[in-house]
Amino acid sequence: MKVRHSLAAAVLASAMLIPAGVPAVAGQHQPVPQPPGLAKQDTLRWVAPQDLKVGTAVAGGGHHETQSYPDPFTYDTEYRERLAAEFNSVSPENQLKWEYVHPARDTYRFAEMDAIVEFAQANNQVVRGHTLFWHSQNPAWLEEGNFSKDELRAILKEHIQTVVGRYAGKIQQWDVANEIFNGDGTLRTTDNIWIRELGPEIIADAFRWAHEADPKAKLFFNDYGVEGINAKSNAYLELIPRLQAEGVPVDGFAIQGHLSTRYGFPGDLQQNLQRFDDLGLETAITELDVRMDVARGTAPTAAQLEKQASYYQRALEACVAVDECNSFTIWGFTDKYSWVPVFFAGEGEATVMWDDYTRKPSYHALQETLEQASPGRGNR
Ligand code: XIL
Repeated sequence: MKVRHSLAAAVLASAMLIPAGVPAVAGQHQPVPQPPGLAKQDTLRWVAPQDLKVGTAVAGGGHHETQSYPDPFTYDTEYRERLAAEFNSVSPENQLKWEYVHPARDTYRFAEMDAIVEFAQANNQVVRGHTLFWHSQNPAWLEEGNFSKDELRAILKEHIQTVVGRYAGKIQQWDVANEIFNGDGTLRTTDNIWIRELGPEIIADAFRWAHEADPKAKLFFNDYGVEGINAKSNAYLELIPRLQAEGVPVDGFAIQGHLSTRYGFPGDLQQNLQRFDDLGLETAITELDVRMDVARGTAPTAAQLEKQASYYQRALEACVAVDECNSFTIWGFTDKYSWVPVFFAGEGEATVMWDDYTRKPSYHALQETLEQASPGRGNR
């Protein structure tokens, strides 16, 4: 059961917001200026139940670097205002991936992630760390380095200790391992450099090293294509308790949720989350977006937008219904910066706001679902 927002908590939360872009000064908090015309009560974070974080990816790096606009998080003032106003959890879209944060063997690039963490602290937001152990977006120096097994192991350990250690106490949840299984439930033994070179036992070490570096952070597996009950989600259901029985510090299972209206909604999402909850695990939705078929230059139909809204709503309802599904994140909140049209030819419009930040039916679906999840708001 999600706990309702108490009056005291709501007042405290709003009082602790400070303007986007203003550096955090310890102990000093001022009210956040809302984007023009937007009341603080008219935001997702305000209506969310107190024990459910509502998050978004923070646009930057990755596909953004090939687009014509400057870094959204750094330069788009309205983007920053809405990021602060609407969400109480943020996930770096690319800024903690190996190729970004660790561009050369002896070089770390922390400035952008530091700025996100500072922004989050200033605006009373938690942070999800993404990611430490993945087959994708690794730098060439790593993938093509011809390192010995001992060297690779040392490189991974040093990376995890350095990155997790730097943000210890400031990152609530970590996607430690991302996308380690194939669709048939077998481990990615060819494309994941760590598993291929060091064997599956290295997965446990990654969690152990992350835990050593920040004992308070909650440590997750994260994957796509695991919304429903299938071979891949079954593989996690088998793996996680086995690791825990060996004393490996795994706290949760996270479902990305990159959905398309081309396919039916995964109607067993709640049941799937529940079976992980039943094992005593935390769960999360970490990267929800719902893409649709759009011909270039044409607007989606009302029916398409309604269908998209129903997918957002059902995904959120599934999380709300599961006790320890405490974190619900969308993978960007405006179509202006979404990765979808760049990665999925002919598909787009996957987020909850148009390019100009006006709200789509999917935004209203989330807002209403959150409101219904926290009865008693009228007491505020
Ligand atoms: C995507 C980003 O949104 C893009 O900017 C980047 O170019 C590629 O990666 N699963 C994940 C995310 O775990 O990290 C991916 O993010 C989307 C799929």
